[in-house]
Amino acid sequence: MAKLPIIVAPDPRLKIKAQPVQTVDEDVRKLMDDMLETMYGAHGIGLAAPQVGDKRRVIVIDVARENEDPKPIALANPQIVEISDDDRIHEEGCLSLPEHYAEVQRPDWVKVRYLDRDNEIREIKAEGIMATCIQHEIDHLDGVLFVDHVSSLKRNMILRKLQKAKKLAQQTA
Ligand code: NI
Repeated sequence: MAKLPIIVAPDPRLKIKAQPVQTVDEDVRKLMDDMLETMYGAHGIGLAAPQVGDKRRVIVIDVARENEDPKPIALANPQIVEISDDDRIHEEGCLSLPEHYAEVQRPDWVKVRYLDRDNEIREIKAEGIMATCIQHEIDHLDGVLFVDHVSSLKRNMILRKLQKAKKLAQQTA
């Protein structure tokens, strides 16, 4: 397994529409494993392939708490097939928008169909933090960031700060 560099916004690679995986083979499994290692290394609960510069529709998630056993899940071609009528609001963060958070309203639960690491079609009902996380990660596959769900005022403020931090990092590098 290898830890991959995580792309920080604003970056055009985070705005792409990722392409479906044909088959979950060794190559896709390696991507899943590398993404999990990258996510754990960054103390994240979810990661999508475009965040590591890969154009495939692959996401990984582990919403287990620090004191619980890890519960990694890797999904290829995840697709929301049903959503709840009720919404939930959760304060979201993102490894591509470090140190920025905002409340985002999304469906309270979702049913998601996907290919697992054995290339089997599976369906899960995601609730609570898992519902938020899975929707957040699927968004990444369509070039959507959590800041795209908040006011343009707040979005622009966050992106400007990140851009500024990038410039400073370049100057001091
Ligand atoms: Ni994210």
